[in-house]
Amino acid sequence: MLHEPDPIEPVKGRVLTGDRPTGALHLGHYFGTIANRVRLQDAGHEVFIVIADFQVIADRDHPGDLPTTVSAMVLDYLACGMDPARTVIYPHSQVPALNQLLLPFLSLVTMGELTRNPTVKEEIRLAARTSVSGLMLTYPVHQAADVLFCEADLVPVGRDQLPHLELTRSIARRFNDRYGAVFRVPQGLLSDTPMLAGLDGRKMAKSQRNGITLRDADDEISTKVRGARTDSERFITFEPARRPEVANLLSIAALCRGVNPDVVAASVGNSGSDALKDEVIDSVISLLRPIRERRARYSRHDVDDVVQTGIARATRVANSKLDQVRTAMGMDYRNMGGLAPDHAEG
Ligand code: TRP
Repeated sequence: MLHEPDPIEPVKGRVLTGDRPTGALHLGHYFGTIANRVRLQDAGHEVFIVIADFQVIADRDHPGDLPTTVSAMVLDYLACGMDPARTVIYPHSQVPALNQLLLPFLSLVTMGELTRNPTVKEEIRLAARTSVSGLMLTYPVHQAADVLFCEADLVPVGRDQLPHLELTRSIARRFNDRYGAVFRVPQGLLSDTPMLAGLDGRKMAKSQRNGITLRDADDEISTKVRGARTDSERFITFEPARRPEVANLLSIAALCRGVNPDVVAASVGNSGSDALKDEVIDSVISLLRPIRERRARYSRHDVDDVVQTGIARATRVANSKLDQVRTAMGMDYRNMGGLAPDHAEG
């Protein structure tokens, strides 16, 4: 199996992706989506990154320290190669007109669609709470607003986001059928990077603290990898079903080096899991070195600037789209003078 990036369409358009600001970005995010965003940007697409801060409270009571989390995330994007002069980055809570699209969009979906969404069902299961919030069921509709307000052409997503993308496309089509052509129907761009497991064998997740973050120092990387689970077989082979822990370490090294996991397995061969870990540590450190160097070039002020500029740009785009929506729906109250003369009579 080759872990080559998706071939990127030659069409230049607007790309929109997003992240929930729930913690430090890790290698899973890097290979799953961030590397792809940088490639799309460098291929000439205009990239919008929405920081979905309202989504954070879909499965928890408090959003946490958002300014800290968000500025660290933005710095990660810049460190990975997103160009602050070309990329539009903003937390969606700061763009009122975007949020207002939620109301008409809610009228275009059924309760059945909301409750059947497999990704939402899985999140409800994982959250293991005694009750499910209304936001948990409706955030995919809000996500449609994230995408549709800016006329995105392409939405790069992992497999878990496909149900949300399908809903977004349905909402755009339904709105256009009902009120006239206002929204562009976006295409998904599926990332086929396999989901990386955390070093404890569970899914690598920001909230589980079981992954290598893009900000880890070399010694933290070593400690984390040394502590990873393996098995007792000396000869290293890539067998994801039978040897999941070893396969995951091989996948991490292979992704960092841009080669096939079998190649890494063959290079370690009979040297055992300590040698495999050395290989992983080395590959991760080499991958993260230029990222760390680029990060050091940006100041706190640069980050603030990127976010403020992003909010201003997104707000202009969203205001214009909301205007089109209101006009299409017959909610334009700027010229209501029609009745005044009748009332004035008698
Ligand atoms: N739901 C996405 C996630 O959990 C984040 C997200 C929010 C998103 N809005 C988006 C992704 C719009 C793509 C497009 O990762």
